[in-house]
Amino acid sequence: MILVLVGPPGAGKGTQAKLLCARFGIPQISTGDMLREAKRSGTLEKRYLDIMDSGGLLPDEAVIGLIARRTVEPDCSNGFLLDGFPRTVPQADALDDLLASQGGTRIDAVIQLDVARPLLEERLIHRRTDKRSGQIYHLVYNPPPPGAELEHRADDRPEAVAKRLDAYEAMTAALLPFYEQKKLLHRVDGVGKPEDVTHRVLSAIGRPGSGGE
Ligand code: AP5
Repeated sequence: MILVLVGPPGAGKGTQAKLLCARFGIPQISTGDMLREAKRSGTLEKRYLDIMDSGGLLPDEAVIGLIARRTVEPDCSNGFLLDGFPRTVPQADALDDLLASQGGTRIDAVIQLDVARPLLEERLIHRRTDKRSGQIYHLVYNPPPPGAELEHRADDRPEAVAKRLDAYEAMTAALLPFYEQKKLLHRVDGVGKPEDVTHRVLSAIGRPGSGGE
């Protein structure tokens, strides 16, 4: 199964990705996580680091290469969930070409999480991530346990959050008609408890009560 999660920053893509991947037994492939890992290990080019921290989008070729290398790893043989990729139509075209070259596999569903902008800002500014486990918390809705080693993302500062939301509206929104035309797009309300959002996603893709592949 190949799933794609799209939606603005803070829509809950990372949160839903973890829940859906556990259900279907497929890996989560997050370009944002891969880039942050490269940042931590000091292998991310400085020009990309600056773009990321200020809330801009990296050039398409930088992320397409990451996906091309990651999707041929053995744990992707039964499918995967893409979180944060593609974000532009050229990235979506590149993904289609990549899947065609990898034996003709196809995307099963593209899930768009809908959340209104004021709530997105509120979610991002209060987000914290556990450095060790990658678990995502919210200081108010889902507070971290004592002892968690918390990270506050550089791009979750208010000015970077505004830039990311604007970038989503300007660029990624063009992606939705692309997948709508292909009859792959499922719009899901992303407001409510994370488990309730997961149920909505499963119903939308025709897998209610799904326990795995
Ligand atoms: P990326 O890491 O993909 O960030 P993003 O798309 O901005 O999305 P976020 O991770 O901020 O939010 P999310 O939707 O995953 O929400 P989350 O589940 O954490 O990308 C970062 C950067 O990398 C980009 O800005 C760009 O520079 C670069 N990049 C990455 N991919 C790229 C690409 N393809 N092309 C070019 N550049 C690329 O939830 C957010 C908060 O809300 C958390 O606190 C969470 O606890 C809370 N929350 C989640 N769900 C709920 C709920 N149902 N109820 C209450 N709270 C909730």
